Amino acid sequence: MGLNKSLPPEVVEILQQFELNREQLQEISEKIEEQMKMGLAKTKGSSIAMLPSYVPALPDGTEKGKYVAIDLSGKNLRIMLLTMDGTDPPRHNTVNYIVANHVMKGTGDQLFTFIVNCLQRFLQEFGLVDANLPIGFVFSYPCELLSIRSARLLWWTKGFDIKDCLQKDVVALLEEALEMNMSTKVSIKAVMNDTVGQLAAAAHKYGPECTIGVVIGYGCNSSYLEKTSRITKFDAQKRGYNHENMIVVTEWEEFGKHGELEDILTQFDREVDEVSVHKGKQLIDKLCGALYIGEIVRRVLSQLCLDRVLFEGQSCEKLDETDSFPTKYISEILGEEEGVVKNCRRICDELDVQSHGTTDYIIIREVCDVVSRRGASIVAAALAALLRHLELSSVKIGVGGALIQFHPTYHQMLKEKLEELVPITQKFELVPADEGSCQGAALIAAVAERLKL
Ligand code: GLC
Repeated sequence: MGLNKSLPPEVVEILQQFELNREQLQEISEKIEEQMKMGLAKTKGSSIAMLPSYVPALPDGTEKGKYVAIDLSGKNLRIMLLTMDGTDPPRHNTVNYIVANHVMKGTGDQLFTFIVNCLQRFLQEFGLVDANLPIGFVFSYPCELLSIRSARLLWWTKGFDIKDCLQKDVVALLEEALEMNMSTKVSIKAVMNDTVGQLAAAAHKYGPECTIGVVIGYGCNSSYLEKTSRITKFDAQKRGYNHENMIVVTEWEEFGKHGELEDILTQFDREVDEVSVHKGKQLIDKLCGALYIGEIVRRVLSQLCLDRVLFEGQSCEKLDETDSFPTKYISEILGEEEGVVKNCRRICDELDVQSHGTTDYIIIREVCDVVSRRGASIVAAALAALLRHLELSSVKIGVGGALIQFHPTYHQMLKEKLEELVPITQKFELVPADEGSCQGAALIAAVAERLKL
């Protein structure tokens, strides 16, 4: 789909930079596949880490009992109680807590005490303080796992920067904080990346054909079920791992750190990267993730204001402020039927600028669409790489995260792009599971108990 023909030339000139044609996407996809293969091999230096998860199997539907999930992802800490008593789907209660900005860049002690305090409040609310429930812990940052209960934090992403946690075992840190808080009795059964939870929840809901999980939330990453023998860098015998399969967490968000995406970065992407906490890193998150795409749109709109193309040349000071255009605005604007501008008008009001009718709304909508579409295209290129690597004739892909859940056109865009990039002989279906990572973590805790891991 090309750009809207009625756009002013200045807008077209900027937005064209965000358009990726099929050849460009194919090239990105091939490079990603190469890095994935290198990440599984003994050779070091791949930009895609392909991390072993120590999770050997997905839920098979026999799971029973009460499990708790703690899910730390970006600014949100979610805690869920999953009750599997034969009702389908299983019952769940979730509470969301917001991690304060100073905690995201503070100390490990502050972070883990905060998590345990929230857990204590949660258990009190449900009368479960003494229940000694099994816990699945989602820690959605790149970690080297040493077992299913031990995860050494490699580096932070998504705006977190707590230096004293680096290289530490986050399960041990959580357990220490639990010990300090003597009133909470729980046991951590498994720690995992959110994509593993997403995959587990989708496999539980859609069956064993679902072997890939993708999260497109604040950041963007995937995991999939791999044959242990193909993870050649992993010495299964030495690590005491005797299962045929293992879920691998790709951490594909790091692709680009060796300059692989140089050709497609726009001036706006470079600016977002420049002021980010981890400059030059996690470029896939920065091009596709909900933590960043609103900010890209803001920068484009701010430039169009400077060029006097928007708002009849009026300035808009709010658009010069970082994060004044959160990603949820994109969803609200694209959620309106074309020609309906209620949300867009309200957002202009919130930005303290007087919009001047249709042209402004059409431009704003187009910017939101083009930036989202580019993100979805890149995710499709990465997924196509994974599908080629797996050589499966048919697969279900469990998708989740804020953009899948709340962005009105994302799922469809992703599907269309994938259809363009994946050979017709490989059948795929994108299957959504909301609250997937959290539910999946509780399910993986149950799998860990069942397999006595
Ligand atoms: C970031 C994290 C990754 C996580 C993803 C989705 O890319 O580095 O581990 O899975 O965000 O939350």
